[in-house]
Amino acid sequence: MDIRPSQGVVLPNMSVRNVSPENHEWLHATRPPGLTLSEHIDALLSGLREGEDSSLPPAPVVQLHPDSFTFIDLFAGIGGFHMGMKANGGQCVFANEWDRFARETYRSWTSHEVDDRDIRLIPVETIPDHDVLCGGFPCQPFSIAGVSKKNSLGRAHGFDDERQGNLFFAIRDIVREKQPKVLILENVKNLKSHDKGNTFRVISSEINDLGYEMREQIVDAQGWVPQHRERIFMVCFRRDAFTPEEIASFSFPKPPKRTPKMRSILEKKPVDSKYTLTEGLWTYLQEYAAKHRAKGNGFGYGLVGPDDVSRTMSARYYKDGSEILISQGEGETPRRLTPAEASRLMGYKERFAVLMDKPEGFPQVVSDTQAYKQFGNSVCPLVVEAIGAEVVRVLQARQARLQTSQAI
Ligand SMILES: C[S@@+](CC[C@H](N)C(=O)[O-])C[C@H]1O[C@@H](n2cnc3c(N)ncnc32)[C@H](O)[C@@H]1O
Repeated sequence: MDIRPSQGVVLPNMSVRNVSPENHEWLHATRPPGLTLSEHIDALLSGLREGEDSSLPPAPVVQLHPDSFTFIDLFAGIGGFHMGMKANGGQCVFANEWDRFARETYRSWTSHEVDDRDIRLIPVETIPDHDVLCGGFPCQPFSIAGVSKKNSLGRAHGFDDERQGNLFFAIRDIVREKQPKVLILENVKNLKSHDKGNTFRVISSEINDLGYEMREQIVDAQGWVPQHRERIFMVCFRRDAFTPEEIASFSFPKPPKRTPKMRSILEKKPVDSKYTLTEGLWTYLQEYAAKHRAKGNGFGYGLVGPDDVSRTMSARYYKDGSEILISQGEGETPRRLTPAEASRLMGYKERFAVLMDKPEGFPQVVSDTQAYKQFGNSVCPLVVEAIGAEVVRVLQARQARLQTSQAI
């Protein structure tokens, strides 16, 4: 939701009474700088009324205690984890990403430095202590696309893949050394079925051997953004840091009730014609889809309008954009998403920009091609925020227990 007054007219005598202290604090905590409280409430109500976007920030958990826990951001990309965790009051103490262009975006958007080394070359003892380790390790060796492409090239996949497959072990080595209280790991949905379940079995057993209790769930970002995007999240609690009851109290968040639609992320103004597909490409995509339909295959392009939800945006979106084409009317050639639309489709909302001290919004500091790749690879920060809020509840329960036992 655009966190600005939609009409620009707010009744001067609007006041906030009879709301719970928690909601009152939440309103203050989420009020973007520059807006009065009344304008903020008006903007929230307008968003709800128009039904444009139901992804209001979750109830406040630690907004009231900024910097109340620390986290590290591995495979940091453009900072999806960073934003989601910071929105919960977390403080990033280390980020690592080897891709130069992703680092440019990350630095610009979060104002945080990013270590540029191959994660496997970082001496683990030099990584700062932290409460929560976040990492969306690369999808390729585990995704259906990655696996089939590599198989067809006669290459190994999963843990056998020298270049990518052992990256989980880089995480394992850091965990073994630094013993964070919680791990939040993310991967593609088919991590569980990859290599007949063997890959996931190894990950689960490694995490268990490190002394952590894992909860995992496939979460569809569709509850928060108008994109069907299923990812597996693994939230792991160190057994000797939490009581069994505290660990059992963790649950994955329920998505907001109303699913946002494409209209909430589409440009309101006319879009540059450079985003419209060439006639050649459009003809090719239609013929390709027809051929596959005739064979009974579901492959083809994905054409969406304002009332739809898109397919998953992939890191290959820059190639032909075929998975998410925006209809420009009956008989008209469709267009791709603009990078700004792609950013909103991934959940990089204005309120995150405000949180990151970028009230003008997130700038695009790389080419369109790099931007599409970065969004396609990214985690949805709104999903991280919602999961992070549940993790923080458990951290707070632990904190309360320790304080009580100290007081006795
Ligand atoms: C799936 S993306 C994660 C994106 C991130 N969660 C975000 O929100 O943008 C994986 C990232 O890991 C990075 N990466 C892959 N191998 C790496 C390595 N050996 N060392 C450091 N970074 C690596 C890639 O460049 C990519 O940006």
